[in-house]
Amino acid sequence: MTAYQNMTPAERTAEYARLQAEYAALKARGMNLNIARGKPSKAQLDMVSDIFQLMQKPEDYISDGIDVRSYGELGGLPAAKRLFADLLGCRPEQVFAAGNASLQLMYGIISEAYTHGLLHSPRPWCKEETVKWLCPTPGYDRHFKITETFGFALIAIPMTDGGPDMDAVEKAVKDPAVKGMWCVPKYSNPDGVIYSDETIRRIAALKPAAPDFLLMWDNAYSVHEFEGDYVPFPDILSLCAEQGNGDMVFEFASTSKMTLPGAGIACFACSEANMAYMEKLFNVQLISFDKVNQQRHVLYLKDKAHILELMKRHAAIMGPKFRCVVDTLDREIAPLGIASWQRPRGGYFVSLNAMPGTAKRTLALCSEAGVTMTGAGAAFPYGVDPQDSNIRISPSLPPVEELETAMAVLCVCLKLAALEKLGV
Ligand SMILES: Cc1ncc(COP(=O)(O)O)c(C=O)c1O
Repeated sequence: MTAYQNMTPAERTAEYARLQAEYAALKARGMNLNIARGKPSKAQLDMVSDIFQLMQKPEDYISDGIDVRSYGELGGLPAAKRLFADLLGCRPEQVFAAGNASLQLMYGIISEAYTHGLLHSPRPWCKEETVKWLCPTPGYDRHFKITETFGFALIAIPMTDGGPDMDAVEKAVKDPAVKGMWCVPKYSNPDGVIYSDETIRRIAALKPAAPDFLLMWDNAYSVHEFEGDYVPFPDILSLCAEQGNGDMVFEFASTSKMTLPGAGIACFACSEANMAYMEKLFNVQLISFDKVNQQRHVLYLKDKAHILELMKRHAAIMGPKFRCVVDTLDREIAPLGIASWQRPRGGYFVSLNAMPGTAKRTLALCSEAGVTMTGAGAAFPYGVDPQDSNIRISPSLPPVEELETAMAVLCVCLKLAALEKLGV
């Protein structure tokens, strides 16, 4: 195969005609495939649904002497705190165990900062003239949406192979209006990047001008390898504390992609001073989260070692799907020189950079052929990719056979859009 840039105009025109026929044939199949969001597949959900066999005996509802069916324990069951502490490498007292969505906790912390202020805030953020927020980009669309909703000015920070560009971050935090930053330190969404030790050390040692700078450390994919061995990660709470930044960070995690994303449990972890402050604020909203589900998860997941075993079983389902995506791109797209992509070993996404100016067109063609993908620009602040290049592939949901078809469609669309850009 010849790279498209090296083809003569006549060769490109012939290739375009050939692809149009291929596209028409795919479209005629009337497909309805979805690789838009990072959802576990039915096979994964079925695999963990034995969780509902637990808690058949009355004593299963008692944990550390607490009846999990009743009110109380705002910050979660001690056993659930121990489970998340084991997972994250922090202390149980630093964990607040809650309901099914870490995203809700992230929104909740930022919302409290906005209405009431954080522990070291001179005033609630709603009283600030401007609040600016650092968004390593490409990043998680729902993160960006939370901070956009509160009217913060989103500042894109380029991602590198080792995490956010730390020179840019260190410079940006000198502005006292910069109040925080999103981070997904392991298998970032969508690039699948693991932050390097050096990046993490520099983040923990930041000296922001804002006294209430908030590091949102979303450890959503801490044990989510689908290829190779488990990669250990440092405890961000201790690292920040060692640098005198103990109150700067809130870490988040959930069991959404260990058990059931609609019915799992989530947590935040923070300094004990932050915990006391946040518990007071959360106490106004509710008496306790669903401790029955916390107990179910404690009994099912047991400890980190047991979770890692379970994650290997998820990997057996996920791995072939990611290999299908990357192998197809290697075979169909790499020789044409029209896109580049990451080769993640964990997480839920493959991030593809198409020829600049072709992402929207590619996705429109996919949609017309019955393949739904994450919208172009979704991984960028305000949903705008200045290069119109990034495409997020979420291969987890469909079975491999469907994924193969979806990838065939995506490849044809990438090629058509690239040829149009090159001027056929
Ligand atoms: C980085 C990241 N954080 C959080 C979530 C959602 O987590 P939860 O189900 O705990 O709200 C996702 C889901 O895709 C994610 O990619």
